[in-house]
Amino acid sequence: MENSRCTALCILTFLFAIDFNLYCSSTAALAEELLSSSPSQTYIVLTRKPEADDEVSLQNWYQSFLPTVTTTSSDQQQQPQIVHEYRNVVTGFAARLTSEQVKAMEDKEGFVSAQPEKILALQTTHTPNFLGLLNDRGLGFWNRSNYGKGVIIGVVDGGVLPHHPSFNDEGVPPPPAKWKGKCEFKSKVCNNKLIGARNLQKVAKNEPPFDEEGHGSHTAGTAAGNFVKGANVFGNAYGTAVGVAPHAHLAIYKACSAKACAESDILAAIDVAVEDGVDVLSISLGHVSPRLSPFYSDLIAIGAFGATQKGIFVSCAAANSGPHLKTLSNDAPWILTVGASTIDRTIKATARLGNGAEYDGQSTFQPEDFQSTLLPLVYAGSNGNQSSALCEKGSLKNVDVKGKIVLCEKGGRISRIGKGKEIKSDGGVAMILMNQKADGYSTLSDSHVLPATHVGYASGLKIKAYINSTKDPKATILFKGTIIGHQSFAPAVASLSSRGPSQASPGILKPDIIGPGVSILAAWPFSVDNSTTSISTKSTFNIISGTSMACPHLSGIAALLKSSHPHWSPAVIKSAIMTTADVVNLAGNPIVDQTLSPADLFATGAGHVNPFKANDPGLVYDLQSDDYIPYLCGLKYTDKQVETITQRQAKCSQIKSIAETQLNYPSFSVLLGSASQSYTRTVTNVGEANSIYTLEVSVPQGIGMRVSPRKLVFTKVNQKATYTVEFIPQREGGNRGFGEGYLKWVSGKHSVRSPISVIFK
Ligand SMILES: *[C@@H]1O[C@H](CO)[C@@H](O)[C@H](O)[C@H]1NC(C)=O
Ligand SMILES: *[C@@H]1O[C@H](CO)[C@@H](O)[C@H](O)[C@H]1NC(C)=O
Ligand SMILES: *[C@@H]1O[C@H](CO)[C@@H](O)[C@H](O)[C@H]1NC(C)=O
Ligand SMILES: *[C@@H]1O[C@H](CO)[C@@H](O)[C@H](O)[C@H]1NC(C)=O
Repeated sequence: MENSRCTALCILTFLFAIDFNLYCSSTAALAEELLSSSPSQTYIVLTRKPEADDEVSLQNWYQSFLPTVTTTSSDQQQQPQIVHEYRNVVTGFAARLTSEQVKAMEDKEGFVSAQPEKILALQTTHTPNFLGLLNDRGLGFWNRSNYGKGVIIGVVDGGVLPHHPSFNDEGVPPPPAKWKGKCEFKSKVCNNKLIGARNLQKVAKNEPPFDEEGHGSHTAGTAAGNFVKGANVFGNAYGTAVGVAPHAHLAIYKACSAKACAESDILAAIDVAVEDGVDVLSISLGHVSPRLSPFYSDLIAIGAFGATQKGIFVSCAAANSGPHLKTLSNDAPWILTVGASTIDRTIKATARLGNGAEYDGQSTFQPEDFQSTLLPLVYAGSNGNQSSALCEKGSLKNVDVKGKIVLCEKGGRISRIGKGKEIKSDGGVAMILMNQKADGYSTLSDSHVLPATHVGYASGLKIKAYINSTKDPKATILFKGTIIGHQSFAPAVASLSSRGPSQASPGILKPDIIGPGVSILAAWPFSVDNSTTSISTKSTFNIISGTSMACPHLSGIAALLKSSHPHWSPAVIKSAIMTTADVVNLAGNPIVDQTLSPADLFATGAGHVNPFKANDPGLVYDLQSDDYIPYLCGLKYTDKQVETITQRQAKCSQIKSIAETQLNYPSFSVLLGSASQSYTRTVTNVGEANSIYTLEVSVPQGIGMRVSPRKLVFTKVNQKATYTVEFIPQREGGNRGFGEGYLKWVSGKHSVRSPISVIFK
């Protein structure tokens, strides 16, 4: 029982807990292997649109791609069944097929592409305040944006616990007339807050979309949970829990079980959400181990393209494979790719050693009855075994942990909380969890099962040295509760947050933005005190971390912007968010990463979201769906590959393709060889009619830049202006690696900033 829960948790929680990664990748790799070694598997088949596209014609059309029915019983088992029919974001279907059956389909008129589905993983009381939604004495952005009223956020995730108080509908008006969705819960639990909930999993289509694991309720609550007074976890982070857009509507699309998410189900969820009438899609899912995946074989990218084309804003988690470079998921330019950063709240737990030294860390579980007397301290890896050092399953059997406080290292095939369970079951009384080198100073607050604290790598090394230095090492943990506002480093990029450059399109800077994703409190379907998978109706919350938590913050902010500016396109909303982002922390210093050194652009993108400023960006970089076609051709995709994404016949030979960096994007990623490169950008004035912007530039080291013109003059709202930037490589030598800078258009009132990343080839 315990074991199966862990397996389930591990795959599902990928985008919210980095140290599950190893375990998860291996489990999911196994799942993928199982899938691909079976004679038939689920394929997603995309086709052209039939001439008549009413429902019956569409069904007949899709059937026509399947092999014809034969009557022998053995063949009947092989007869493929369509499991999903798509019609909004793509034309096509999902069915279990053999590779021979797929091969036979390829010659049929109207066939576009077929790919076997992959298995993906699911990747607050305080954040609205931290994001400045309440500031300016009632004139804060919440008021201006009407708390997100009238906007529908679709959450593609693991379902929801509908009775949770975060989904009460006080103050939320009925859904807009365009809403066509359904509520598949049996009792009447949907309301004006939770306006729809559907289960798109092909294996469980008739089951209500309950959240079995927690991730789905947490992300939905973060995006648009309503006000709940007195929320806390073990008494910590006490306050009023509320999502980012408290009066927006929520529509839930369950595409994941407690085990994993299948691509055909995710595509079905996006397809149905678009038809239902959502305005924003929040997708905290991603590939288990991010790898080079061109956009035409990335079903989230394909679905998101169709949604964006219909004016829907798509916000996705960047994945949790940081701090290593090139680890992003969901990096298509029509998606907002969201990385995770800290907030100015820690749930502090301090390790005190026998020599009096103290090291601050974090833990959500802070037992009041824990005596802060010194206990014997042991390093779990003292036997020289790496598995023991990581406190993996069964690895502490020959380490003397009884009655002791145990120092464990982060990582390996076990979760952070799982390490504590291991210690507890072997008779240990407390845990100090230390980072590996790569995670540096980045720590997380977890609902541990025993007194614990998570400390950084440098602290861990000092604790190890202390253990080495004495015959009788001792330590204890001092629980200090919730500390707000004492974090001069907040926001900082979390170690787990995946980093660019984008592998699929290095000429687009990714991630786009960072937002709160560390130790986030939000709705949870069961009590974490005595966590079981059984669904309870008890009001509960949990504190978890990951880009999965950052993504719904940005989905909520997009909903607020949509409420405040109903006519803004997805690209305009993204531009507003990016060009107004903060690049300094609360102390006014550059945003740092897990090393406490300034974070690079592959970690931060445009910076940390500032919703108040995003509401009034001055100038925006807009994009229409057609603009992506020359860009996709420029990626050297074939006509069929472009059609797979855009769902329109493409002829790259007949259009002028563009370099990736030429896309009218709010940031620059320049791949610079020995020749100069020149790009144009077009900005649209969404500020005051009469306004003048002048240029400010920070030129990346090792290059020259020429921008013209250097002044933009507007006399009308929605007036456009174009400028050109030339990037000029300078003398040989020293030009290795990366360079960073920015360009900024500044008026009396606005500052429109685009980061510039240079990759020297
Ligand atoms: C919201 O803003 C308006 C001005 O835009 C102001 O008159 C009103 O009092 C504000 N409401 C609250 C609740 O602060
Ligand atoms: C380390 O411990 C694990 C679990 O107890 C065991 O399976 C493994 O063989 C050990 N490795 C070495 C090198 O002793
Ligand atoms: C502690 O001692 C062990 C064994 O002598 C050594 O390998 C290790 O590097 C020491 N650790 C520290 C942090 O000094
Ligand atoms: C959790 O379960 C244990 C034993 O089953 C019980 O003693 C304890 O009170 C429970 N804790 C909570 C918070 O429910």
